[in-house]
Amino acid sequence: MLSQEWGTIGIFDSGYGGLTILEKIKTLLPQYDYLYLGDNARAPYGPRSFEVVYQFTRQAVEALFKNGCQLVILACNTASAKALRTLQQRDLPLWDTSRRILGIIRPTAEIIDVVSKTKHVGILGTVGTISSGSYTMEIQKLYSHVVVTGEACPMWVPLVENNEFNAPGADYFVEKHLSNILKKDSLIDTLILGCTHYPLLIHKIKENLSPDITVISQGEYVASSLKDYLFRHPEIDIKLTKNGTCKFLTTESAEKFSEAASIFLHYPIEVERITLK
Ligand code: DGL
Repeated sequence: MLSQEWGTIGIFDSGYGGLTILEKIKTLLPQYDYLYLGDNARAPYGPRSFEVVYQFTRQAVEALFKNGCQLVILACNTASAKALRTLQQRDLPLWDTSRRILGIIRPTAEIIDVVSKTKHVGILGTVGTISSGSYTMEIQKLYSHVVVTGEACPMWVPLVENNEFNAPGADYFVEKHLSNILKKDSLIDTLILGCTHYPLLIHKIKENLSPDITVISQGEYVASSLKDYLFRHPEIDIKLTKNGTCKFLTTESAEKFSEAASIFLHYPIEVERITLK
């Protein structure tokens, strides 16, 4: 049974990275109520198989629906790449057709044609996101003339999670993947940070790149796409409560979550631990 009582917006990520998206959404749409869920006990999702990412994400979305969310954003590129379509097509009709699940790849793909002049675009992401080919598919569905090249950066998430993203050691891994992707396609003029953790590395990334290359951090685009979506779907918007609250759930320890979340947020938060199954 899904709860009908509240009208919260659920924001899901495998761990902390989705907080970068939540912050941009809250800045643009502060009036709504939010419930963030980080599956920290089972993160990272990046190296996991399709089936496992799908199963974990399904459990998380169901938990958010049971906690009163009417709309859930998969604020995780890996989950958006590997689970969104099946959840929308197979699970949602069985749960409740009036609720919605949205991902973060499409809103990022939509802006590419305006930003890129050379029409050569690079995607930096987890192994899971890059191997899924989801960015390439979404971009080419919209703009078949755009050339898309991917590069998996498996060390970038651990650098952020371990608070090493500003340390000198981070330069090696940042430089390595930037030079790899530019070797694959030297015409790239736009790089998408296709992982929710990567905005924390943006200074290092820009330091290691020519200023002619535009680096896209997706939070603002996801936020404005959500605003537009709610405007176009008043039947969803009317179900959403607007008291400006934000609560946090984690599958790991609540203390650990609030401590680590301070890397991403700069205010104290209320966290509860839940179990997903
Ligand atoms: N949040 C994930 C993403 O955006 C990265 C972390 C993970 O691998 O779980 O792809």
